[in-house]
Amino acid sequence: MAMDGNTRPNDLSAFWMPFTSNRQFKKQPRMFVSADRMHYTTDDGRQVLDGTAGLWCCNAGHNRPKIVEAVQKQVAELDYAPAFQMGHPKAFELATKLVELAPAPFEHAFFTNSGSESVETALKIALAYHRAKGQGERTRLIGRERGYHGVNFGGISVGGIVTNRKMFGTLLAGVDHLPHTHLPEQNAFTKGQPEHGAYLADELERIVTLHGAETIAAVIVEPMAGSTGVLLPPKGYLQRLREICTKHGILLIFDEVITGFGRLGSSFAAEHYGVMPDLITTAKGLTNGVIPMGAVLATAEIHDAFMQGPEHMIELFHGYTYSGNPMAAAAGLATLETYAEEDLFARAAGLEGYWQDALHSLKGLPHVIDIRGMGLIGAIELEPIAGEPTKRAFNAFLKCYDKGVLVRTTGDIIALSPPLIIEKEHIDTLIGTIADVLKTLD
Ligand SMILES: Cc1ncc(COP(=O)(O)O)c(C=O)c1O
Repeated sequence: MAMDGNTRPNDLSAFWMPFTSNRQFKKQPRMFVSADRMHYTTDDGRQVLDGTAGLWCCNAGHNRPKIVEAVQKQVAELDYAPAFQMGHPKAFELATKLVELAPAPFEHAFFTNSGSESVETALKIALAYHRAKGQGERTRLIGRERGYHGVNFGGISVGGIVTNRKMFGTLLAGVDHLPHTHLPEQNAFTKGQPEHGAYLADELERIVTLHGAETIAAVIVEPMAGSTGVLLPPKGYLQRLREICTKHGILLIFDEVITGFGRLGSSFAAEHYGVMPDLITTAKGLTNGVIPMGAVLATAEIHDAFMQGPEHMIELFHGYTYSGNPMAAAAGLATLETYAEEDLFARAAGLEGYWQDALHSLKGLPHVIDIRGMGLIGAIELEPIAGEPTKRAFNAFLKCYDKGVLVRTTGDIIALSPPLIIEKEHIDTLIGTIADVLKTLD
């Protein structure tokens, strides 16, 4: 394809790009044509340092031989097996490996193809679980302001990002929201978990009083809210949420689509924070982003509630054509092996101090109003341009890209989540480039 002259707008017009400013992009395209370990290569031959692990998903970096070979071998061996009423060995093997990696109470994995589907699956399992237990009146779902749970109707209903909700009608009925936990006046520039805000979990008691506990099925939160701009849970907050859910028989779902697979320096945030939910949603790092796949992890208590009635009957009327797809399962197995062989979660934990210091070195630069980080995730919040929200951070993203560094922006926040194979020199380049860019921003 010619990438120059007048052909470019026409060539690019058919693809309606997701979560993209299409008109801006098509005037000034940014194309990756290959990737290896920490770097992408652009169509004009430039190297770009990956500060975001693709979209928070390539935790082992790019072009990892074990994963590439596993997918190549699998596609030539078994390209597809029906997901319903039939199986293939690798899906079972991956489910076993996944529950071995997960904290102890999680004994079962239900496969999906994305984070959004994992969320829909978890919400449906929560509703159906209560019904199976004879509590079918528990139909309400509680999310949180600023929460991101993907883009399907359940996910945007419990989600709390206004731009993702307001164009799409009335959404699911019977949903309420906890307040978000962002308290910049008290917590700005905290390294790691903020001190203030555990009391915000008590808002769940208010919601329970308002609706009646017996009407509430589940609470879903990201243990660390990623897509809204990296909001870390205040100390004690998740513990409090767990206590209130347990007290009222409400299921707690952790959406670990970003925090799963080492992002915080542990397998899962549940383990990291020492708080066990009833369901965990995953995707992204499960296959290192290579083949779309997600999984919902369930405790034996939840799974076993469905295993009743005549044996020939389907227990859960839910699933996808590509649940446990052979290529995805092969990629997942090779990914988990790569994480283990290279001890990547411990590596992330070991780099956290250096990462935090690098991030916080940006304090005092123009427009920076907060810095947050944990594990190998970070956010730099900028003062918005008056009347033009998101523009300052978007300009920073464009300038970083021109200087050979990929960052991600959400609102006026620069979010970072590099592959866990990052070296200290890469951290210096990433943060140094952002510093240079911040000094030149309007
Ligand atoms: C917490 C969380 N849930 C769900 C999703 C949706 O995942 P996907 O884009 O794979 O549907 C994301 C994506 O960023 C996420 O961060």
